[in-house]
Amino acid sequence: MTTETVNMLIAKAILAREQSYCPYSNFSVGASLLTDHGAVYTGSNIESASYTPTVCAERVAIFSAVHAGERSFSAIAIVGGKKDEFISSFCAPCGVCRQVMAEFCSPDFTIILFDGNETKIYTLAELLPESFGPSSL
Ligand code: THU
Repeated sequence: MTTETVNMLIAKAILAREQSYCPYSNFSVGASLLTDHGAVYTGSNIESASYTPTVCAERVAIFSAVHAGERSFSAIAIVGGKKDEFISSFCAPCGVCRQVMAEFCSPDFTIILFDGNETKIYTLAELLPESFGPSSL
């Protein structure tokens, strides 16, 4: 993946974060998901007063893409931090989102994190080793 693509995905995740609905945690997250054919789907976290229906930015992006008929993904960029502040630390995907990634993405799927200054790049296999997924059944 080129540096331009990584930077493009980070920029779209930063923009997507502005759509976050997070009145309970005041922690806003943005994600941008790249398909194998170059389309980008974005998401932000959406919270609920009863808390558990809250959906992370990553799943909003992935489910939006799947609903649109997409099935092949190459990368996701994720940024998060205190609402109304620029990001200042890395926001790694939660366990539920890692499991959803394992449903639709291959082990070499790229996960890009940005803390406002530095970039960290992982594969899904690194963040979810020995996973249980579609091929387990
Ligand atoms: N959140 C995400 O959207 N993605 C992550 O990777 C971590 C957490 C959201 C869920 C909740 O709305 C808020 O951040 C605080 O947990």
